[in-house]
This record gives sequence, C-alpha cells and structure tokens, in this order.
Amino acid sequence: MNWDALIRALTVSPENTIVALVAFSSILVVGYTIGNIIGRNHQKEKILDAQIQLRNTEKELKSARSKVERVEIALSRGEEGRGVWDLEHLRTPSWYHRRLNNSPAHILAVANLKGGVGKTTLAANLGVFFARDRGKRVLLVDLDYQGSLTGLVALGADLDADPEPEVHRVIGGGAASGNELHLLTHSLQPLGGLRLLAAGYELTVEEDRQLIANLLAAEERFSVFNLARYLSAPEVKENFDIVILDASPRLSAATLNGLFACTSYIIPVRPSPVSNRSVAYFEKQVVEAIRPINRDAKLLGVALTMTVREGAEGSRDKTFVDEIRQNFAGRTGEYGMLAGAYPDGVPLFDTRIPNLAEIGRGIALVGGDQNSKTLLTSFCQEVEAKLENQ
Ligand SMILES: Nc1ncnc2c1ncn2[C@@H]1O[C@H](COP(=O)(O)OP(=O)(O)OP(=O)(O)O)[C@@H](O)[C@H]1O
Ligand SMILES: [Mg+2]
Repeated sequence: MNWDALIRALTVSPENTIVALVAFSSILVVGYTIGNIIGRNHQKEKILDAQIQLRNTEKELKSARSKVERVEIALSRGEEGRGVWDLEHLRTPSWYHRRLNNSPAHILAVANLKGGVGKTTLAANLGVFFARDRGKRVLLVDLDYQGSLTGLVALGADLDADPEPEVHRVIGGGAASGNELHLLTHSLQPLGGLRLLAAGYELTVEEDRQLIANLLAAEERFSVFNLARYLSAPEVKENFDIVILDASPRLSAATLNGLFACTSYIIPVRPSPVSNRSVAYFEKQVVEAIRPINRDAKLLGVALTMTVREGAEGSRDKTFVDEIRQNFAGRTGEYGMLAGAYPDGVPLFDTRIPNLAEIGRGIALVGGDQNSKTLLTSFCQEVEAKLENQ
C-alpha cells in the first residue's frame, strides 16, 4: 500500500479526514464488539462446564451420604435384626425364582444362631442316613469356616487328612457352574458315596471381604445368592437328590447363602432358656429377612438335641419345650413378633436326641452304639417323612 498517497489524500480536504476517522473508529467498535461476543461465549461455556461439574459432585455427595446413612441404620439395627447385612432393599436376580426347576428337590439347611446345639452332628448323620441307608445321592455343604462338618466327615470316612476346603470358591461366586462340581467336592465311599463341599479358614477371608464390600456398598449384593446359583446349575440336579447345608451359628455370608438357597430348614436346639430365645430370634430373622425373598424356605421343625432326660414327663426339658411352643405361637410378649407366623405352634420333631457320649464322639450312624444308632435313625426317618410330604 502507498501510505504517502493515502496520507496526502486524507489531508487534502478536512471532509476526507473526518470520513477516514469515522471509518476507522467504526472498524474499532465493530472489532471490539465481535471480540467481546466471542469472549463472552467462551466464558458462558466455562460457566456451563462448571455447573455440570457441580451438579455431578452434588450427585456423588448425595449418593455417598445415603450410603453412609444406610450403613448407620444397618449398624444401629444390629441388636434387633438384620444387622449390617441390611437385606431390606435387596434386589433379587432375575433367575432366582426359577432356580428350583433346576435344583435338586431338597436343599435342607441345619441352622440356628446359637452355637454348640448339634447342627453339625445332625447334618453329618443325616448325610450318612440318606446316602448309605437310603441310597440317595447326597451333597453335604460345610458353611462354617471352622470346618467342623469337614472334620467330622473326614473322621467318619477314616481319612488321613481333612479334604481340601473349596466352599469359599462357591460363596465367592468364582465357581458359578456345576461343571466344577467334581473338582470341588470330595466323594466319600465309606459314607455311602456322599460328596462333601468342604470348608476351612479360606471361607472367613471371603466372608470378611464380602462384609466390607457390603458396608461400603461397593458391589451389588447378589453375592448372597452365589450358593443358590451354584446349586441351580443342571449338573447339580443330575448328580444329587438331596443337599444338606451345615450353617455356622451366625448370619455370616455363607449362612445367608445357605438360607437363600434352601428349600427347608431344621433348627436344632438344646432346651434351656438361652437356647429358647435363640430359636425365636433366629426364626424372626428368617421370617423378616429371608422368607420375603426365599418363599420356599420351610421350617421342617425344631429338633431337640442334647436333652437331659429323654421323654421324662415333668423334667426340666419339658418346661423349655412348652416354652418354645408358646414363643412361636406368639403368645408371649417378647416373641409377639412371631405371632401369626405359627398359629398352631412350632413344628417339633418327636424324636429327641439325648446328651450321650456315643453321639458326641463322631458320626453315631457310623461308629456309635446300637442305642445312638436307633435314636438317630428314628430322627432321620422323621426328616425323610417330612421332606416327602413337603
Ligand atoms: N446328642 C449329643 N450328645 C452328646 N454330645 C453331643 C451331642 N450332639 C453333639 N454333641 C457334641 O456337642 C458339641 C457341639 O456339637 P455340634 O458341633 O454338632 O454343634 P453345632 O451346633 O454344630 O456347633 P457350632 O455352632 O459350633 O457349629 C460337639 O462336641 C459334639 O460332638
Ligand atoms: Mg457346627
């Protein structure tokens, strides 16, 4: 551009100068305005981004608060109910209610929140009865990390060492298919060929992991259905007629798995005031937390174990037996919670299992004397009859 010519043209007449100045300032104003609009748009975008971020953070905060609240509520309920498991809002997986079409006909849990009442002893004898004496295909599942059933069965089958624990793989969800059944279970020929899914301390590691994950709400709580899922694999139905679950005396992850998987359950109890309460509390948990989801879970009966004087009228035990019936019928204030659940009173097994050294020593149906064998056979026959009538 020829700048000299331009300056000369502008300075020749004042009109030209004015026109030039106006044009120049207009250019400046238009430029400024455009710049301003672009800048403002940019700012608007930034504000929008910040608002979205804020909204997301608010959402996360809200969800974190509700998780904390849920954990607090669950913990505060510890005394009276579901405890940290807070099963109230548990969603059931879509396959859950169809599972029984694919499961063995009977999945029988032996359970009570009270320890040392003979759960494991009854589970082991029931296993031997159905496998050896009835020729059924039995799967025994040890759901207690202490591995008492595993040890008792190893003793009964005269094994040199306890079978390798594997149940934690099922409870952990890592063994979802029945395909692995023969790898995970141990066949025990001396006990009528029953198979055992053994437990050991690996189970408590898995249970603790699930408890912590549950507290932090870090994962879906479908983990309580892992055993039900495992048992509903077609291979389990093809290989077994009955599954017997030996629960731990706590609502541990494995016990919950057992209660959500079972079709029926037995509550063994050693008659005493403390034990009587334990039956009511256990049943309350089942009625409130388990049965709304596992509608199949049927109380087969309360089994009286380690009774002091078998059948003696007016004995100490009789008082507790009467008490249990009343508690369940909901007539006593404290157990009013169960009113309506058993209007005719609790189903009790007729055969009582007395406190006998012969029964406590091992699996009485294998190594016990004639008296203990007769008693346990009679108990197992009652279980069989109830299962058949189910
Ligand atoms: N009828 C009985 N007579 C004598 N002793 C028994 C009888 N039943 C079980 N026992 C013994 O009582 C103890 C507890 O029994 P068992 O292990 O079957 O109870 P449990 O309810 O499974 O216990 P836990 O709650 O610890 O799992 C064991 O030493 C067992 O041998
Ligand atoms: Mg036990």
